[in-house]
Amino acid sequence: MDYRRLGKSGLKVSEFSFGAWVTFGKQVDVGDAADILGYAYDHGINFFDNAEGYEAGNAELVMGEAIAKLGWSRDTYAVSSKVFWGGPGPLNRGLSRKHVTDAAHAALKRLRVDYLDLYFCHRPDLDTPVEETVWAMHNLVTQGKVLYWGTSEWTAQQITEAYAVAQRDRITPPTMEQPQYNLFARNKVEGDYLPLYDLLGLGTTIWSPLASGFLTGKYNDGIPADSRVNLPGYEWLKAELESAEGKRKIEQVKQLAVLAKEIGLPIHHMALLWCNANPHVSTVILGASRKSQLEDNLKALDHKAKITPDVLKRIDELLGNKPAGPQRY
Ligand SMILES: NC(=O)c1ccc[n+]([C@@H]2O[C@H](COP(=O)([O-])OP(=O)(O)OC[C@H]3O[C@@H](n4cnc5c(N)ncnc54)[C@H](OP(=O)(O)O)[C@@H]3O)[C@@H](O)[C@H]2O)c1
Repeated sequence: MDYRRLGKSGLKVSEFSFGAWVTFGKQVDVGDAADILGYAYDHGINFFDNAEGYEAGNAELVMGEAIAKLGWSRDTYAVSSKVFWGGPGPLNRGLSRKHVTDAAHAALKRLRVDYLDLYFCHRPDLDTPVEETVWAMHNLVTQGKVLYWGTSEWTAQQITEAYAVAQRDRITPPTMEQPQYNLFARNKVEGDYLPLYDLLGLGTTIWSPLASGFLTGKYNDGIPADSRVNLPGYEWLKAELESAEGKRKIEQVKQLAVLAKEIGLPIHHMALLWCNANPHVSTVILGASRKSQLEDNLKALDHKAKITPDVLKRIDELLGNKPAGPQRY
């Protein structure tokens, strides 16, 4: 396991990290969560991702209890929460000063920690002035309740505005963004955000590196009963898989699998290592509904050298989705 700076910050996160979305509190109970987290930690993972919105806070409860069981020393791991989807009421969601503050306090309790290492705005909130959110985050930082704050799925312009407010008011700017990034979702990380890495020192903690499992090839011949796409509440994912676009993606997965085989990798290892090969990615957040998946996915790291510039070029040619990025004249 290698460790990378989270953008220009001094925080060194493991190149593969682990997140609780869908799984903890739904597919995975505390006992299995402890087993999975213990395996991750013993293999060098030091960052664990969560959110108030994951299973309505239950994913954080499960993670908090599992980590307490494991008895890790607080200076050996970093944990995150995200604020936005806290509940149905007008005060329970969004990025107002009140909800950003309430949600941080609630996450601290659920995760059983004194501070959050990373705290994300899970989406932009068009009903709250960006100054209000930036100041709320800064206050949590000065109170020692949050160490680094960031955004998730904000546009480059929204991130730049938040950064500008922080610079103007001489307060704590965002450190990182959490975007989706995988072989099918490239625009933000490889396109829109390109100027921000140097300009702001932005780090990225990227999500769904296997496109919710599509990039394992497990959906190539139908939907396995015990898979994410079959879970209640994830009908939207099934609709995505069964759409014309989903069917096109499955065809591409089959072609990618041929290329992966040629270089001696299973497709999901190639997909994870492809994310990891981007120097603007600080950490690739893995998801797993069972320990065997994590064991399997971590083995990819033994084969980083197989992702050569030639392989990257062939993937670009096969998919035809490399973003143009900002043009230089
Ligand atoms: N900021 C955001 O908006 C946002 C959004 C989404 C996720 N995230 C973060 O990113 C993390 C990772 O996202 P993700 O869970 O979508 O990642 P992913 O790697 O794209 O999907 C993980 C899922 O794929 C299946 N899978 C993984 N490895 C497998 C293997 N070797 N063989 C067969 N199936 C395998 C499992 O689902 P099944 O076994 O159930 O099929 C697993 O739960 C989340 O936990 C969360 O922390 C953030």
